[in-house]
Amino acid sequence: MNILLEELNTNISALTSSLATAPRSLAREWFARHDFLGPASTNQDTHNLPFQRWYRFKEAFAPRAVIDAFSKLETVPRTCIDPFGGSGTTALTAQFLGIRPTTVEVNPFLADLIEAKLQSYNSQSLLASYNQILDVVSCSTTEPSTILANAPRTLIAPGVNGRWIYSAAVAERILAYRTAIEALNDPSHARLFKVLLGSTLVELSNVIISGKGRRYRAGWERRIVHPSQVGRALQTAFLNALEDVVRFGDRPCRDYSLLRGDARTALNEVTEVDFALFSPPYPNSFDYTDIYNLELWMLGYLKTADDNRRLRTATLRSHVQVKRSFDAVASSPILDRTMAHLSARRGEMWNKNIPDMVRAYFDDLVAILTALHGKITIGGSVMMVVGDSRYAGVSIDVGKILVELGGEIGFKLADLSSMRSMRSSAQQGGTYDLDETLVHLIKR
Ligand SMILES: C[S@@+](CC[C@H](N)C(=O)[O-])C[C@H]1O[C@@H](n2cnc3c(N)ncnc32)[C@H](O)[C@@H]1O
Repeated sequence: MNILLEELNTNISALTSSLATAPRSLAREWFARHDFLGPASTNQDTHNLPFQRWYRFKEAFAPRAVIDAFSKLETVPRTCIDPFGGSGTTALTAQFLGIRPTTVEVNPFLADLIEAKLQSYNSQSLLASYNQILDVVSCSTTEPSTILANAPRTLIAPGVNGRWIYSAAVAERILAYRTAIEALNDPSHARLFKVLLGSTLVELSNVIISGKGRRYRAGWERRIVHPSQVGRALQTAFLNALEDVVRFGDRPCRDYSLLRGDARTALNEVTEVDFALFSPPYPNSFDYTDIYNLELWMLGYLKTADDNRRLRTATLRSHVQVKRSFDAVASSPILDRTMAHLSARRGEMWNKNIPDMVRAYFDDLVAILTALHGKITIGGSVMMVVGDSRYAGVSIDVGKILVELGGEIGFKLADLSSMRSMRSSAQQGGTYDLDETLVHLIKR
């Protein structure tokens, strides 16, 4: 057996030792399809993993990172929280281990993705809902230019300057499926099918997600996407999901709490938790709202430009693309030194707000850590996977700065360990020299 899988199984056995035999083996069966190709802080190992295969969330960590984190604790927690849920990796893995998860996510499509994975289903009624969708879709038509009247004009042909993301016929079918899904009586089914339709949207489009944004596929002008591909792609996604919920529906914990919204305020609603594990956005100007624009507009999560602006301003201040206040007071010796260097080189940066954004980023994480400190039991742990960034040659050591800021809040450092080296942008050298770090803090 692969040595890493063996180690993982040993950890799973230790973490689930108090559970009955059947739920213990369910976690092991799930992990049997986990690959070991890349670092645990990336999603490279999860393309075939049930649930994680529903939607390729590029910024996810692998479930084995969650197992590793739980295994570092002295006792198995009863509850855990992830304030930056993403694709729900922490919460789903916790359910497999019998640990009750709470998670927060600001992006409504991603919040639906998380909940679609965590909720329970009856497979027969899911099949009935799928048949209802097919019946409705076969005799309905939609008007994309009306439904998407406020969406970016590049979304549908003729687009802007001869470029568009979907042909009118493909957009029409996607919206017909969306309308049929929204007509389902069971909101949990509507959520799952919406997420599955969302999982087909990039492959049906003329763009791919690359680096920090989208770009047109090579030769997209000659690429023909037939409207019938919409239904076929949804069918494939549904059959995979059905297999996963049937095989792995009986997880030791089926309960969960999902808070939809901005973690900077939503954490106030949380009651006591034993452990926090998360990976916040990195201060690298990656705009999550922009990257997930196809799903947000095509599935109706955004209906106006104002919705878009509201969502972008509710995200952590890790990017400069949306105009908003970067007022911040966070201060620590390393942060202040970094800020002095960044301010001195402001003129060389592609956006003059970058230095202010960096302090604001730490201000936001101080708000998160302060809220968690109030919720976590004494002696409880917070683990964060964080990534460094660099602007105009000035590096931001996110891990060390958070250790200093956490110390002021009432956390002591348990461990600071490197997870991998990330590639910097072409302007910053393009080499693998940015650290991704696991920061483990304990509440004093
Ligand atoms: C690095 S991803 C987390 C990935 C996650 N660990 C996983 O495995 O899927 C960070 C997430 O934080 C979310 N986010 C950004 N700002 C937020 C905020 N203010 N409140 C809650 N979530 C936020 C983003 O939408 C994104 O999904």
